[in-house]
Amino acid sequence: MCGLIGYNGSEQAAGFIFTGLKKLKYRGHDSAGLATLDGDRLQYKKDAGKLEEVERRQHISQLPGHIGIGHVRWATHGIVNRTNAHPQLDQCSNIAVVHNGIVENAFELRRRLETAHSFVSTTDTEVIPFLIAQYYNRKGNMLAAISNAIEELHGPFAFLAICRYTKDKFFACAREMPLLLSCIPTGCIASSDANSLPDDCNQAYVLDNGEIAEVTAQNLIFYDRAGNPIEKQPETLMRQIGAIYTNSTEHYMMREIREQPYAIEQSIGQNVVDMQDAARAIKEAQNVIFTACGTSRHAALMGRYLFSRVGKRMSEVIIGSEFKYFSEVISWNSVVIAISQSGETADVLDGVRTARARNAKVISIVNHSTSQLARLSNFVFPLKCGTENAVAATKSYMAQITVLALLSHYLSGHQHDIIQKIKALVPLVELVYETNLKHAESLARNIAKHNVCYFIARGSNFHIAMEAALKMKEVSYIHSEGMPAGELKHGTLALIEKGTPVVAICPDDYTFNDTLYNIEEAKIRGAFIIGVSDKYHSVFDEWFKIPKVEEILYPFVAIVPLQELAYFTALARGVNPDSPRNLAKSVTVR
Ligand code: M6R
Repeated sequence: MCGLIGYNGSEQAAGFIFTGLKKLKYRGHDSAGLATLDGDRLQYKKDAGKLEEVERRQHISQLPGHIGIGHVRWATHGIVNRTNAHPQLDQCSNIAVVHNGIVENAFELRRRLETAHSFVSTTDTEVIPFLIAQYYNRKGNMLAAISNAIEELHGPFAFLAICRYTKDKFFACAREMPLLLSCIPTGCIASSDANSLPDDCNQAYVLDNGEIAEVTAQNLIFYDRAGNPIEKQPETLMRQIGAIYTNSTEHYMMREIREQPYAIEQSIGQNVVDMQDAARAIKEAQNVIFTACGTSRHAALMGRYLFSRVGKRMSEVIIGSEFKYFSEVISWNSVVIAISQSGETADVLDGVRTARARNAKVISIVNHSTSQLARLSNFVFPLKCGTENAVAATKSYMAQITVLALLSHYLSGHQHDIIQKIKALVPLVELVYETNLKHAESLARNIAKHNVCYFIARGSNFHIAMEAALKMKEVSYIHSEGMPAGELKHGTLALIEKGTPVVAICPDDYTFNDTLYNIEEAKIRGAFIIGVSDKYHSVFDEWFKIPKVEEILYPFVAIVPLQELAYFTALARGVNPDSPRNLAKSVTVR
């Protein structure tokens, strides 16, 4: 949820870190802060607000010194205010910590530590510097203090720590949370995200299992959680392809919608042997279960449909946070397919760990190949769609359904056909983007006046209705629901009034006629119908025209105008679509 970055080197640390934090803003953005070591002086500044606001008020980038740690926060424990922003310090302000994750036993630890110390924040994080300080005071050794402290922490974490008594280094430590370290020409850095590493940095060390790193200006020294020295090998970073459209004044969300044809082209190129092996495992498995959250779950629903229709393989989709409640049916003979843009979604990781513990095979479809999810998987299919910055997932979704289309055709043995079809689809996705853009913008001004919006569809288009509703609600704050068109009359119809927007995704496929009945039912009760189809019908009040494609490919073209509609509705309501309130890009907490 939060973003961390640390630097030790010849540059002024705070300036370097501030630049890195800008690239981490999408992980969390309700407060920010920085701490540096200047000789044996530990200095820090922090505040509530967006990074730029905090900089304007506090000038965090101006802190002196060549060693520092910085943080952007998305609050989980403790309200958003200056005191709860990171860094958090020990009582004597000798040790500063920036942290991502949750200290699940923070309450118990606080009660114990409170007998001797006074806490100032209401965060779970504050126990970390307090614990480290407690051990440091006994042992006079930061490495040993961190090693002892983490033994007491329950839950996943990644943190960076500086101490005014160890003035030539900072420390990094992680368990089940992303933390990458790398050496660059001017020094060494640690970050929660490959995104914030310099462009020419292609390799990084990844910490896990409570491993600790001492980060000096020249090198990185690694220890296991008990403080014993260990050797680590660097991993090659999947360099995120920079935005191909570089108009920097544009919102990320719009840029990423436009990058979707490119995302399709990239993601169709998968390792053939891995695809064949994964397909074999799926065919032979007793049960096949998708797990994912949010948009990735909608892609999984498409996967289920494709597996059944193309691959003749039944499968199930279980929401990440619910997965553990189904664990009894998971065995060595199960295949679990985890879909996640970030590969860091805690709910998905929980499910995957459960699956691993029961010896299931794990296939992941993930954008970040150094993520926890990728590490936990037997097969990894990278999305290759480049960094997705906007909170609302768009191009990652397009890449996910591309990989799923490919995998389902490996199940049927017709992979060559689909590769050709998907290549032919790319210009159509471009076309549907261009032809609906202006229309989406003008229609959005109407939708923006409403407080509800419904999305209906049938069959393979149903998950598009769900995805379109999610896009609309998260960026425009209009209550939106996606549902099978046939369900409308089982309850939701009661909410239809004169002018209520109902978006019907009804391409001219096997669902068209049945969906029309449901559209009529809504229309005669006053609904304002927005049809998404390649075929016009007079029942539509507005029509997003999509190109005619093969049935299983409709979702690729049908979602695009609805992403545009959500984007423009957010603008019409004065919401910044890139950073909707209360949401973060990676949801690394349960
Ligand atoms: O990184 P993931 O794909 O695992 O993220 C899952 C959801 O948190 C994510 O799709 C979320 O729903 C998006 N904000 C939707 O646009």
